[in-house]
Amino acid sequence: MVVRQLFPPPGGEVDVRSLYGSEDRSLRGDRPYVIVNMVASIDGSTAVDGVTKALGSPTDRVVFLHLRDLADAILVGASTVRAERYGPARTTPAAQAARRQRGQPGRPPIVVVSRSIEFDWDTPLFTDAESRPTLLAPAGTHPDRLERAARAADVVTSGDQGVDLADALSQLKRDRGVDVLLCEGGPTLNTQLLSAGLIDELCLTVAPLLIGGAQPRGIFAPGSGDAALGLPLAHVLEEDSFLYLRYRSGA
Ligand SMILES: NC(=O)c1ccc[n+]([C@@H]2O[C@H](COP(=O)([O-])OP(=O)(O)OC[C@H]3O[C@@H](n4cnc5c(N)ncnc54)[C@H](OP(=O)(O)O)[C@@H]3O)[C@@H](O)[C@H]2O)c1
Repeated sequence: MVVRQLFPPPGGEVDVRSLYGSEDRSLRGDRPYVIVNMVASIDGSTAVDGVTKALGSPTDRVVFLHLRDLADAILVGASTVRAERYGPARTTPAAQAARRQRGQPGRPPIVVVSRSIEFDWDTPLFTDAESRPTLLAPAGTHPDRLERAARAADVVTSGDQGVDLADALSQLKRDRGVDVLLCEGGPTLNTQLLSAGLIDELCLTVAPLLIGGAQPRGIFAPGSGDAALGLPLAHVLEEDSFLYLRYRSGA
């Protein structure tokens, strides 16, 4: 299959990777540049039977892995970790070498946001000796829970009953050198990033499927209050009826 660029003109066949990584993503402020990457059906479903597998495509996988290779860390909501059985990020030896040359860790750490701190601590995400995840947790979490989490993850606390994402992301930049943060959802976490004005780029794959069903729709879950963020279109790619959209502030 051939990936064609539909926008900007002139169109034509393109190498997908070259379109996601070229520009400067450094921000001068005290927080990382945040890319949100999602896949959805035409009618906005972000999961089928609770997982994303049915929505993807080989090219979506290429984009997913390429964005991971670029990022300093990967942010994800706890429900997605549990639903998708997240493990540590896997990258090829070549990608790891390129990352090290750029001064990044060989594999981007997974950063999980959670209030409940309820996980299966025996899964590879928490047991892989080479890649320790980071857990963003509210400072008001019971000390026993924080102590348990600290055995399996680097714990960063912020906020009282819920994580203050603006503060937590600033801590990631200041203390862990995270300049580019890739958020892989889910919709609940995305909405909080949007409300806090923390999204700089959105990569969205639209799968040529209508899912219907009773699941809530949208890559952003209902939240409190409206946020209107203008994100100019950076590109539109097409392959086999899948659309690959990228919106970027200042594009
Ligand atoms: N199509 C796609 O690209 C895509 C991408 C990702 C996920 N998904 C799908 O989306 C579904 C999961 O998404 P979701 O919206 O239900 O959940 P989510 O955003 O993945 O995670 C929500 C959870 O994250 C934690 N959390 C979020 N904000 C927090 C804060 N400020 N402070 C403390 N904890 C916070 C809480 O964890 P606790 O429950 O631990 O308190 C909350 O319940 C799954 O079905 C998954 O397959 C689809």
